[in-house]
Order: sequence, then structure tokens, then C-alpha cells
Amino acid sequence: MKIPLLEMKGITKRFPNVVANERVDLELYSGEVLALLGENGAGKSSLMNVLAGLYRADEGEIYIRGEQVEITSPRDAMLLGIGMVHQNFMLVDTMTVAENIILGMSDLPFVPDMANVSERILEISKRYNLQVDPQSYIWQLGVGERQRVEILKLIYRGAEILILDEPTAVLTPQESRELNQVIHQMTAEGKSAIFITHKMEEVIAFSDWVRVLNKGRLVAVKKTAETEPTELVQLMVGRDVLFCVEKSGRSPGDLMLELNNVQAVDDKGLPALKGISFKIRSGEILGIAGVAGNGQKQLAEVITGLRKTTGGRIRINGEVKTNKTPFDMICSGVSHIPADRNVRGVAGDMSVADNLAMKGYRKAPLTEKGILHPVRILELARRMIDAYHIDTPTPHTHSKFLSGGNVQKIILAREIDACRGLLIAAYPSRGLDVGATEYIAQSESGKAVLLISEDMEELMTVADRVAVLYEGRIMGILTCKEADTEKLGMMMAGIE
Ligand SMILES: Nc1ncnc2c1ncn2[C@@H]1O[C@H](COP(=O)(O)OP(=O)(O)O)[C@@H](O)[C@H]1O
Ligand SMILES: [Mg+2]
Repeated sequence: MKIPLLEMKGITKRFPNVVANERVDLELYSGEVLALLGENGAGKSSLMNVLAGLYRADEGEIYIRGEQVEITSPRDAMLLGIGMVHQNFMLVDTMTVAENIILGMSDLPFVPDMANVSERILEISKRYNLQVDPQSYIWQLGVGERQRVEILKLIYRGAEILILDEPTAVLTPQESRELNQVIHQMTAEGKSAIFITHKMEEVIAFSDWVRVLNKGRLVAVKKTAETEPTELVQLMVGRDVLFCVEKSGRSPGDLMLELNNVQAVDDKGLPALKGISFKIRSGEILGIAGVAGNGQKQLAEVITGLRKTTGGRIRINGEVKTNKTPFDMICSGVSHIPADRNVRGVAGDMSVADNLAMKGYRKAPLTEKGILHPVRILELARRMIDAYHIDTPTPHTHSKFLSGGNVQKIILAREIDACRGLLIAAYPSRGLDVGATEYIAQSESGKAVLLISEDMEELMTVADRVAVLYEGRIMGILTCKEADTEKLGMMMAGIE
């Protein structure tokens, strides 16, 4: 039997509030590319950080060519031939390419011969068609070039196993094709690669094998040639029971939200929304399905004023509201349950009651003629604590003392309660035991709701229509009746 080049057995990695990896196994053979596939947060980076010596696993073993190894630092990993290109590059801006490549290498002479270093860099650069100028400063380079420097650095240092963490996220399609060539050249020479991604088509294009992670667990091992995108989507998302629940008593009213060819870029300046158009009427819930990371975050942000659009138009209640501030959007009746609830959402040093009242401060009945009414704030808080089952000792408790789930309920309660027209809810049920969508569906009708969720069952239960987001585009919008597992799965995999 062939011994794997690399074997990880039963890797468990815990963080204070989450198990990032739970007894995960991995095998990699020489000359092969393994794709590690999973939604955002599935535990891909954590597993690879364990391998690269950045994290210590709580449990599990690692073997190289059948021999157990201890990897306690990136240096250990490098000596074993393991090198990782991280999601955020780790290059020093003020140094040249050549300096970065030898930076931190231990077996260098006191005064390194830079001419020699440059020569070797050019040699590798030519062999792998990785074009870089050793004399350039990092700050002069674009993202694609920086990635090349990272890869070159690892090859220079003798990496046999190259780990690439979502490498194409920062690349143009042309650069992605070049990267594919580089990887093929490397594997042809007997080196191996682990390629992290959440995109099915990259798995198909780049890999020999694929391992799928879902919520920290390994859920599938497939030979790439023997699987297909729709199967991979199902494995990634982990649910396939879909049923349409008849929504009674809702009749759509006036047009509340209208997006027309809306475009936006992500934090790295790359296109994230590539022309989004849809409409939502009051009394209607539009679900947004799709693998997380396909533009969901940016979509919520442009509608709530947190991100500028680079094209297109947003109308609320018939009025153009493109590129307004978050405060303008609140005034236009937009409420927002954000996905990153720890960053945005609640002020930990304020009481539960004040956090609940935050959106009503500026108006009656909480404020009258510029005077705050603490008694009314408390009444409102008590009512909301009750209705949303928020577990807090008193309304005066600082919200930082509450559990994560209860902090989330504060946001839900406040946003649903304050909503006067349009509710943008991003993954509202994440981290909650009871489905948040129940609160949304039960709340008084007449609102328009945009519900972004990775839970297909949840979407089918409450949404009237479901739009599938893929690579910053809407693949199609189906009514709940038209939607089934197969159609949605195909659309989520980017197949028309
Ligand atoms: N350094 C860290 N501290 C605390 N939690 C972390 C850390 N790194 C990752 N996590 C958590 O572990 C889980 C898996 O994250 P990650 O491995 O980054 O997933 P992926 O790369 O698949 O998107 C997430 O819930 C994430 O919040
Ligand atoms: Mg990651």
C-alpha cells in the first residue's frame, strides 16, 4: 500500500466559543492536489493553520511519509517541507521581493549574497512561470504579484506541500488560470498542494481529490473526477430536505425596495456585486440563498448604507436612496440585523434596556421635546425582554454580561420592533436555538423583508420567493413553489 505523503488524524481544534475542527482526517499523496471545500467558518483555515504550525491542535496526530511529527511553529512546518500562503499575505511592504524571500531563513550567512539570491529567484520564476522582479519593493506590487512572491518564497525554501488559502479570492480570472498552471507544474514535479476554496468550479478545475468540511467536521471525501458541483453544494451546505410552506394571509402591497443593476466592490476592491436587480413589496419576504461568500454581506451593506455602490440604483418607497449614510437609511425605514453581530449591533457597556431602545431615542414616545423618558424606555425594554425571551438578570444589566445568544436576541428584538418598512436580516438564526425567522414571520405584517440565510429549510419555510446569489450575481429568482433542491442546488453551484 502506498504511504501518504501527509496524514492528519483526528485533528480537533477548539477556540473559546467554538470547535473549529472536530476529529478531522486528511490524506495527501505526492503529486496530488487536494481541495478543501466548505462554507465560510467551516474550519478550513484552522485545519491548515494547525498543519502550518500557527495553531496547536487540541487533539490528533500528524504524519509525514508515515512518521509522526510535532509541528509547533511555522519553522517546524517549513523544515518538514510544508508552506502556506495565507488569506492575508505576510510580506513586509518596505522590503524588496528578494529580501522578503530570505527574511527569517535560519541557515543564511551573516551577510547574504543578494546577487546569488536574485539569481535563484529568477531561476524559479522562470521554471514556474511566476513572473516577479526580485528588486521590486512589495509596496509597488499588486495583489496578484504579491501572491506570486508568497508562492515563490515557499518554493525557494523547499516546500514540498504548498497550502493555498482561498488563493483565487484576490485574483482576476486571468491570474487564476496562471495559478492553475503553476500548480500543475509543481505537481508534475512531484510536489503537492492543498487548495482551500468555497467555490465548486475551482475544485473541479484544480484538484484530484476533494474533502468537504461542514461546521468543523469532515463530511465527505470524493475523487474530483467522480463528483459534480451540485453534489458538492449539498455536502457543503449539509441540508437537502426542502419543502415549501404555504404562506397564508399575506398579500403583497406597495413596492418597498427596488435594486436596479447594483454594483459594489469588497474590502479588497474586487467586484462583489455585479449588477443586482430585484424588487420586494411590503408584506413580502424575499430569501437570498447561496453559499456564504458570494456577495451576501455586501448586498446587505449597500442597502443599509454601510457600503458605497459603484453603479446602479437603490430605491426605497419609490425614492432614490443610493449611497446614503446608515443614518439616512434608518430614517427611510430600514432596519438591519447584521451578520457580524459582535462588531456591529450592541454596545457592551450599555444596559440591555438602553441597547433595546437605541433606535427609538430620537423620537416619541421615548423622547418628547428633546427630553428622554427613562420610565418609557424601561417599559419598552421589559416588553421586549418578555416577547423575545431574552435571558437577563435585569434590564439594567450591561449587555456584555449576557451570553452570545441573548445578545443576538437584543439585536433581533430591537431591529424587528423598530422596523418601519424594510428589514434586512443577515443570517438571523445563526447561534440561536430557536429560529429567529419565527419572530420575523410573526411580527406584524406589512414589512418588506430581505432574508439572507444559509439554511434552506428556513428560507423555504418563511420566504415567498428565493433568489440565488452566486459570484455577485443573481442566478435566478424562484417562487417558493417553483423551488426544489435540485434547481436551487444547480443555481448555487453557478449552473444556469
Ligand atoms: N483565532 C481564532 N480565535 C477564535 N475563533 C476562531 C479563530 N480562528 C477561527 N475561529 C473560529 O473557528 C471557526 C472556523 O473558522 P475558519 O477555520 O477560519 O473557517 P473557514 O476558513 O472555513 O472560513 C469559526 O467559527 C471561526 O470564528
Ligand atoms: Mg478561511
